[in-house]
Amino acid sequence: MDKMLVTGGLSLRGTVQTSGAKNAALPILFSTLLADGEHVFRNVPDLKDIESTAKLLESLGCETRREGDVFRVKVNKLKSIEAHYDLVRKMRASILCLGPILSKYGEAVVSMPGGCAIGTRPIDLHLEGMKALGAEITLKEGYVHAAAKRLVGGTILFETCTVGGTENVMMAATLASGKTILENAAKEPEIVDLAEYLIKMGAKISGHGTSIITIEGVDQLRPSEHTIMADRIEAGTLLIAGAITKGEVTVEKCRPQHLEALILKMREAGFKIETEKTAMTVFKASAWDAVDITTAPHPLFPTDLQAQFMALMSVANGTSVISETIFENRFMHVNELIRLGADITPKTRVAVVRGKPDGLTAAPVMATDLRASASLVLAGLVAKGETMVNRIYHLDRGYENLEAKLSSLGAKIRRSE
Ligand code: UD1
Repeated sequence: MDKMLVTGGLSLRGTVQTSGAKNAALPILFSTLLADGEHVFRNVPDLKDIESTAKLLESLGCETRREGDVFRVKVNKLKSIEAHYDLVRKMRASILCLGPILSKYGEAVVSMPGGCAIGTRPIDLHLEGMKALGAEITLKEGYVHAAAKRLVGGTILFETCTVGGTENVMMAATLASGKTILENAAKEPEIVDLAEYLIKMGAKISGHGTSIITIEGVDQLRPSEHTIMADRIEAGTLLIAGAITKGEVTVEKCRPQHLEALILKMREAGFKIETEKTAMTVFKASAWDAVDITTAPHPLFPTDLQAQFMALMSVANGTSVISETIFENRFMHVNELIRLGADITPKTRVAVVRGKPDGLTAAPVMATDLRASASLVLAGLVAKGETMVNRIYHLDRGYENLEAKLSSLGAKIRRSE
C-alpha cells in the first residue's frame, strides 16, 4: 500500500477530530525510562514512529502494550543501555533516549542518527547540554558513549533554539544533583506537555513554555498517568484541507491557541476562521490572497506546516514568498508541486510561489518526507483528475488515518499497491 490516489475538485465538509500529538508522545514515551514501574497514557496516536519508539523501548528491556485508547509502558531495570543503529536510523527522535538513560543509569550508548531528508539535523546541542551537566561524551564507531556517575546541574545556553535538545537535556536534568537552568530553551507546546508529565512523575520543573526552564534535580521519579496533547500539526493540516478545497470544516479536539500563527496567516489571506477552546472552523472561501510566511520557533509559523501552506498558496491570488529558517533542505515538495502545475521558484531557504487559482492538474508525484507528503495530498485534493502520491509510507510516520479522516469529510482518496 505504497501509493495514495487522490481525486481533486471535491469540497470538504463536516467535522473531524484531531489525534494525539506525535511530537509530544515520542519524548514522553522516552521519559518513562526515568522511572521504573507502569506508566499509563491516553491519546497516543497509532503511528509508525510510535511503533519504532515501542520497539526501541522493548530492546532496552521495557514492555509496551496498547489496549484501545490506553498505552502502557512497563519499565523494569534496563537489560541494555544501548540504543542500536537499526532502531535509531528509522527515527531521529530516538536520540531522546540519551538523556533519560544517562541520567538514571550513569551511562548510555546511543547510535548517532543518520542523515535526514530535510537537512543535516546535527545533535551537537544535545551533546553540549549533557557535557554541561558533567557527562563525558565520546564518539566511537557511529555511537555516542555518554557517562557520568551522577549528572550535576548547570546553566546551559542553547546557541540555537532546539526542540529535541531542550527535551533531552530537560529530561536528563530531572535526576541530576542540584539546579539546572536552560536558557534560550524551545517553547513548543510539546515541551510543555513533556514537562507536565515529568512533573507528574515527581520532577521539579518551572518556566516550561518560556525560554528559561529551571529544573531542580530529585533523587527518584515514579511512574504516572497522562493524556497526550492534541496534534497541532495534524489539526493545522486538516484546517488547510478544508480551506484549499473551498469547503467548510470544523476540526475538533484541538487547541487553536497552539496554532495562532497559522490562523493569523489564513485570516490575512481572507479566510473566515472561528475558534473555540478546543475546536476551530474554516468557512467556505471561493478565492484567497497570497500571503508571505517565515518559519521560526514557536509561537511563530511552524516549519512542520510550511509545505502544507505552500500547497494552499499555490492556488492563491498573487505571489507569496515562503521563507524557511529552521531546516536548510525543506523544499523537496516544491518540484513535486510543480509537477502538479504549481508555479514556484525555489531559492536557498526561500520559495516564490505565484498562485494559480484552479491551476493544478493531477500527476504522479513522490512523497519525500512526512510533511511534504501531506502537502502533496492537499494539492491532490484540488488538482483536476486523480493524483498518485508515491511513497506514502512517509505519511504513516506522523498522520493517524489521514485518508479515513479526509474521506469522512467527503474526499475521494484511497490507497493502492
Ligand atoms: C522537532 C520536531 C520536528 C520539527 C522541529 C522544529 C520532534 C520529534 N520533531 O525536531 O517535527 O520540525 O522540532 O520545530 O519533535 N540543531 C542543531 N544542533 C542540534 C539540534 C538541532 O544545530 O543539536 C538545529 C537543527 O539542525 C535545526 C534547528 O536546530 O536547524 C531546530 O531543530 P530542532 O528544534 O532540534 O528539531 P528536532 O527536535 O529535530
